[in-house]
Amino acid sequence: MKLEIAVLPGDGIGPEVTDQAIKVLKAIALEFDHMFKFRIADVGAVAIDNYGVPLPEQTLTLCASSDAILFGAIGHPKYDNDPSAKVRPEQGLLKLRKELGLFANIRPVKAYDTLLDKSPLKRHIIEGVDISIYRELTGGIYFGKKELSGDGNMASDLCQYSREEIERITHLAFEAAQNRRGKVTLVDKANVLETSRLWRKVVTEIAKQYSDVEMDFLFVDNAAMQMILNPKQFDVILTENLFGDIISDEASVIGGSIGLLASASVGKKYAMFEPVHGSFPQAKNKGIANPIASILSAALLLEHFELFNEAQMIRIAVDKSLKLHISTPDINANYDTISTSKVGDFIEDFIHNPGDTNMNFNNIHLGQSTII
Ligand code: IPM
Ligand code: MG
Repeated sequence: MKLEIAVLPGDGIGPEVTDQAIKVLKAIALEFDHMFKFRIADVGAVAIDNYGVPLPEQTLTLCASSDAILFGAIGHPKYDNDPSAKVRPEQGLLKLRKELGLFANIRPVKAYDTLLDKSPLKRHIIEGVDISIYRELTGGIYFGKKELSGDGNMASDLCQYSREEIERITHLAFEAAQNRRGKVTLVDKANVLETSRLWRKVVTEIAKQYSDVEMDFLFVDNAAMQMILNPKQFDVILTENLFGDIISDEASVIGGSIGLLASASVGKKYAMFEPVHGSFPQAKNKGIANPIASILSAALLLEHFELFNEAQMIRIAVDKSLKLHISTPDINANYDTISTSKVGDFIEDFIHNPGDTNMNFNNIHLGQSTII
């Protein structure tokens, strides 16, 4: 298969983790006889530095003319600590999602057997957890009208949803549940918010078309508690933009690190693949950022094009790296930690030589010992 992939490394650790995903995709292309072409463009704080805007026109054009987009991370502390900044890196990501119509953000969360004791949650609570979060991505409070009064003492953000916006992601969530364990949980705040009541109404209507899927509702405050009390009850979680943002960071604790969480953002025409984590500026260029979220986002990209064996190969390689503790410090505190690029090297090597892991393992540790 021929694929043109727009690569938007972005800020902080974005470039270094994205490099590992590209490395891995190149290995897949070689082993499975595909042609992947990567075209790189700026987004976020780096784009503000270079062009004055977080999403330059040429970046958007490149994305719109590519088969898929691989996204790194976005954000810089100089904007976080300046509430009066007129341009912000995050606006680039939001505009990209909106312009490309990426209305569904799918965030798979699972507990890896080898990492069960890395999570602050108890093993018996997280063992076997396998959740798919369907977060609405182009509506709600993120995109409603924003206002600040002239004297700067009053602000508002409008939360708005249309029936159509709810319907299209709801169908995706129910279809996903049909291929999983057959349950959708709608997370909302229908006891307080009008938008949430519309979500309940529309989702309840659509649920009737999927008689093989069980439907369940949870208020978001309760859902936040259930996520750490009994996450095994969840199969597909369907939720609006802001609740999905929050609940997915919380869910990442189950896997042991947010550095493992990948996501796919899809619409009718375009698809973008991005780690759930942010730009982690303190870790930039230190080689300590976990590249697995970016590498697994590349696996989701392959699945999107129905390259299932290829994606599976990446997942097997990732599992192997975790099992052998070829991992960055976020999940590897008790062992020799391995740098971002060495984790990428291992996964790349594994894809080329799946039967030869012991040798790779030794090489990695040898290589590492000369670096530390
Ligand atoms: C995410 C991020 C973004 C969001 C930020 C960077 C705008 O937190 O993808 O979860 O809030 O959607
Ligand atoms: Mg987030």
